[in-house]
Amino acid sequence: MMNNALMKSILVTALGVLLIAAGYADLDGYWDKPSTKSNHDWSALEKNMRPEACAQCHESQFNTWKLSRHSKAYSSGLIGQFPDMGHGQGNDCLRCHAPLDEQLYSGEPDMLKSLSILRKHPQGFDLNANLDSPEAKLPLRHSGVSCAVCHVRSGNRFGPPRKNDNTLGFIKTETHGGFTASKKFEQSGFCAECHQFPQRYAINGKPLENTVFEWQQSRFSKQGKQCQGCHMPDRQHTFKGIHDKDFTRQGLDIQVNKKHGLAQLKITSTNIGHAFPTYVTPKVLVSAVALGKRGEVLKTWRWEIVREVFYGNGWQEKQDTRLMPDESRRYVADNPPKASQSVRFDIKVVPDNFYKSVYQSLLDDDLQADAKVLIQRALDETHTNDYVLFSDVVKL
Ligand code: HEC
Ligand code: HEC
Ligand code: HEC
Ligand code: HEC
Ligand code: HEC
Repeated sequence: MMNNALMKSILVTALGVLLIAAGYADLDGYWDKPSTKSNHDWSALEKNMRPEACAQCHESQFNTWKLSRHSKAYSSGLIGQFPDMGHGQGNDCLRCHAPLDEQLYSGEPDMLKSLSILRKHPQGFDLNANLDSPEAKLPLRHSGVSCAVCHVRSGNRFGPPRKNDNTLGFIKTETHGGFTASKKFEQSGFCAECHQFPQRYAINGKPLENTVFEWQQSRFSKQGKQCQGCHMPDRQHTFKGIHDKDFTRQGLDIQVNKKHGLAQLKITSTNIGHAFPTYVTPKVLVSAVALGKRGEVLKTWRWEIVREVFYGNGWQEKQDTRLMPDESRRYVADNPPKASQSVRFDIKVVPDNFYKSVYQSLLDDDLQADAKVLIQRALDETHTNDYVLFSDVVKL
């Protein structure tokens, strides 16, 4: 007699085959070994998976996507780590950074060649590439979380329903054999594949990446405001986040004032659909300085908004002072020196705080030649990403 587990596994396999035959019935199985390979009898342009090719007809999506971090997900800081890890583990990382079958490494030489290409071509796309040549200049993996990663399976296009048209399922059009419209593109679940770790990887009850869960707990999910509502306004492919000062600023209400003779700063997360910041890599520094008559600094206060983890006897959480949606926090410059005339508050954002130390410790080791150049480049970039979010003075 067949045991239960075997029975189940056969059932699941059979179901899987049915779904694939039906063409990803509402995106089920969409992320299982995604591949764009097909034998469609289409023009070279329609078969070309490079973002530059999509740009010929979908220019506005290309022009916003190319400025987003999705277009830079095959980054120096990512692949500079691979020679140490080997191509097998590298492929595990590509599951989110460049997941299509044809983006993965076939072996060690393929991976090492890719490092030297990235060294010469820091950007993963090139609008001047000759699209008529059999091979566009750069391999598809260099375009990272590219158009085809989200929109193409077996050559076929998948997207949201047309604007002002609720037709779902397969829609025939003149180009690339039509497309399949699914509501899933308009929902947070679409982003979960790469922006949520499973609960089994939790540290102190929370996975390192917990963005979708944080959103589910928030007012935004109850109001039906999805990730796309903030990160793809009007369907634009901007995907702005903590690296963008204006975008981050509009998510917060920040007030300074004087209460009971003390200067204070109050931050409220009003328009962020998850923790501020979501994830363990950024750090937000809040500081205050008491200033004397001639502007001299009399005293300094410092606070951190961060989820800090470290490795030692397994992963451990050191602190989690992040702001959840709708949460407020007050920072009081208490016991100022008598001569203080005013207090200045500053909020500084360090989007890649965690990576700064990762890259520095990698550089302290012996690195493969291309990897060393790439990791140094990544470290330099982390510094240029820092910015001052807010600064204001309270007279005492
Ligand atoms: C030769 C022009 C052309 C090229 C090249 C092209 N497309 Fe399209 N695409 C179209 C047209 C036309 C439609 C149909 C629009 C409609 O009728 O609503 C379409 C529809 C789509 C849709 C569905 C839009 C929706 O409303 O959901 C997606 C997604 C899409 N294309 C993605 C891509 C991607 C990704 C590439 C590159 C790999 C690409 N296309 C290349 C012309 C093109
Ligand atoms: C990270 C995933 C992702 C990537 C990468 C991506 N898209 Fe999209 N795209 C989406 C989602 C999600 C929507 C639907 C957004 C919504 O409904 O709010 C969408 C919508 C679209 C539409 C329909 C737009 C409309 O106004 O109706 C087209 C066409 C499209 N994308 C083409 C592209 C092209 C071309 C690229 C590359 C330059 C690209 N996408 C990259 C996720 C992605
Ligand atoms: C295939 C995996 C994948 C999918 C699907 C995906 N993302 Fe991403 N996303 C990434 C990766 C990887 C990065 C980091 C890119 C980098 O900087 O290397 C990223 C970065 C981002 C950032 C920028 C964060 C910053 O630090 O500024 C935002 C915002 C974002 N994604 C939103 C979304 C939203 C919204 C969706 C769903 C519509 C989505 N993503 C779907 C993989 C994905
Ligand atoms: C589950 C999806 C996922 C996997 C798997 C993953 N990443 Fe990422 N990675 C992300 C997302 C999302 C971001 C952007 C996070 C943010 O800033 O909020 C990111 C950001 C990064 C960054 C900083 C931005 C950049 O591209 O320079 C590095 C470096 C990085 N990841 C390296 C790795 C390495 C190395 C691995 C494999 C050990 C890996 N990632 C596996 C999702 C993933
Ligand atoms: C109400 C608007 C809103 C919603 C809804 C929302 N976000 Fe964000 N998101 C923001 C703002 C503002 C920031 C920049 C501040 C920050 O990092 O917290 C941000 C930052 C991010 C970042 C970069 C964080 C980092 O630490 O590098 C990622 C990734 C991201 N969001 C993904 C998502 C995903 C996935 C969803 C859906 C589950 C989502 N967001 C829902 C507003 C929103």
